[in-house]
Amino acid sequence: MKVLVVGGGGREHTLVWKLKQSPRVAKIYCAPGNAGIAGEAQCVNIGAEDIDSLLKFALDEKIELTVVGPEAPLTLGIVDRFREAGLRIFGPSRKAAEIEGSKVLAKEIMSKYNIPTGRYADFTNPDAAISYIKENGAPIVVKADGLAAGKGVIVAMDEKTAIDAVKMIMKDRVFGESGNRIIVEEYLEGEEVSILAFTDGTAVIPMVPSQDHKRIFDNDEGPNTGGMGAYSPTPVYTREIEEFALEKILIPTVRGMKEEGRTYEGVLYAGLILTKDGPKVLEYNARFGDPETQAVLIRLESDLAEIIEGIVDKRLEGMEIKWRDEAAVCVVMASGGYPGSYDKGKVISGIREAEAAGATVFHAGTAQKDGKIVNSGGRVLGVTALGQTIPEAINNVYKAVQKITWDGVQYRTDIGKKALKHLK
Ligand code: GLY
Repeated sequence: MKVLVVGGGGREHTLVWKLKQSPRVAKIYCAPGNAGIAGEAQCVNIGAEDIDSLLKFALDEKIELTVVGPEAPLTLGIVDRFREAGLRIFGPSRKAAEIEGSKVLAKEIMSKYNIPTGRYADFTNPDAAISYIKENGAPIVVKADGLAAGKGVIVAMDEKTAIDAVKMIMKDRVFGESGNRIIVEEYLEGEEVSILAFTDGTAVIPMVPSQDHKRIFDNDEGPNTGGMGAYSPTPVYTREIEEFALEKILIPTVRGMKEEGRTYEGVLYAGLILTKDGPKVLEYNARFGDPETQAVLIRLESDLAEIIEGIVDKRLEGMEIKWRDEAAVCVVMASGGYPGSYDKGKVISGIREAEAAGATVFHAGTAQKDGKIVNSGGRVLGVTALGQTIPEAINNVYKAVQKITWDGVQYRTDIGKKALKHLK
C-alpha cells in the first residue's frame, strides 16, 4: 500500500517511523516532512494546509491511505475533500474536527452530554468577559475559541493577566478570527494527563496514557510551548481513573459527537486534569499529540497501519491492540530562544551517537544544509528511549540527549520526574 503522511513535525516523523514497520506499507510519502523523515520516506514539497495540491498529489500517485498529523488541515476539511474524491484518509471530518477548532463547541458538547469539565462562560463582548473575570477572580483561564497554534489558552494566576488576555485576544486580535469568541473557564488544579484514543465513530480504544511538559523550563517554569517532553505510562493514572475516563469521558464524547451529526473518526485526544473531584476535561484535540505520540507509539507493539485501516473501514470493535510493557521518555531538544524568536541553520551534531546509545531520534524542526542537518524550527528533535521502568527510561534518554548538541540548544532536564513521586 502507498501511504501519504501529512505534516512535518516530530509527531509525523513518529507516524512515518511506525507505519514503515508495517508489512502492509510498501511506500511512504510525507508532505512536507523534515530532514529526519527524508531518511525514511519520500518527502514532497507541499504544505500541510495546501489541500488542493495534496489532493492532486494523492490522486496522481494513487495513494491508498492518507494519514493526517496536524489539526489545521483537519479543521479545513481535508478528510471531506479526500473522501469526496474517493480516497481513503484517516482523521476526523471538518465538522468532527471542530471539537478542537472551536473551544465553545467542545464545551457545549461536554455540557450537553454530562462530561466532567470546568465551569465556564463564553463571550463575544470583551467588556462582558472582563466583568465576569472581576466577579469570579483569579486563578482563571481565558481561551480563544478558534485555533491559535497552541497559544490560545492563557492560565491567569491574577486578574490583570486574565484581563490582559481578553484584550490581547478580542481587541488586539493577535489570533485573528480565532478571537471572535472566548471562553473564560474555572482553573482546574491537578496533574495533567493526555489520553489519545483510537475511534471509528462507534468503538473507542484508548492508547497508553502519557504526560506532556508544556512549560519551557524545569519545574514547569517559564512560558508555554508546544510541549517539551513526554513520558508513558503515567503512574498517577490508575486503573480506576482509566475506567472512569473511558466510561464517563471518551465513550460519551464519541456518542455525543455522533448524535450531533459530527461522527468522529481518527484519534481523539482528551487532555485531562486529575482534580481532587475526579478527572475533568481541559481540552480535546482532533489528532495525535506532539510530543505525546513519540512516547506512546514507541510502545505500540501492534501494526499501526492495520489499526488505521480498521478505523477507516469501521471495524475497530474488538480489535486487539498490544503495547510493550517498557516505559518511554521523550525529551524535546529546542532552539535557543524558543518559544520566542531563535536563530536557524545551526549545525546539529551527535544524532548518530545518540542512536548508537539506544535512543530513537525523531526530527521536528530540522532541515538539510550543505549535507548537514541544521535546526529550522523551535522544537528540533524528540529524543526518545525505552527502559524497564520510568527511572531507567529517564536515565537512558538523558544519556542519549547528552550526545547531541548545536549552538543554542536547550532542553528540560526533568522530563518524567513527576512520575517518580507516584512510584512505590
Ligand atoms: N502536546 C500538546 C498537543 O499536542 O496539543
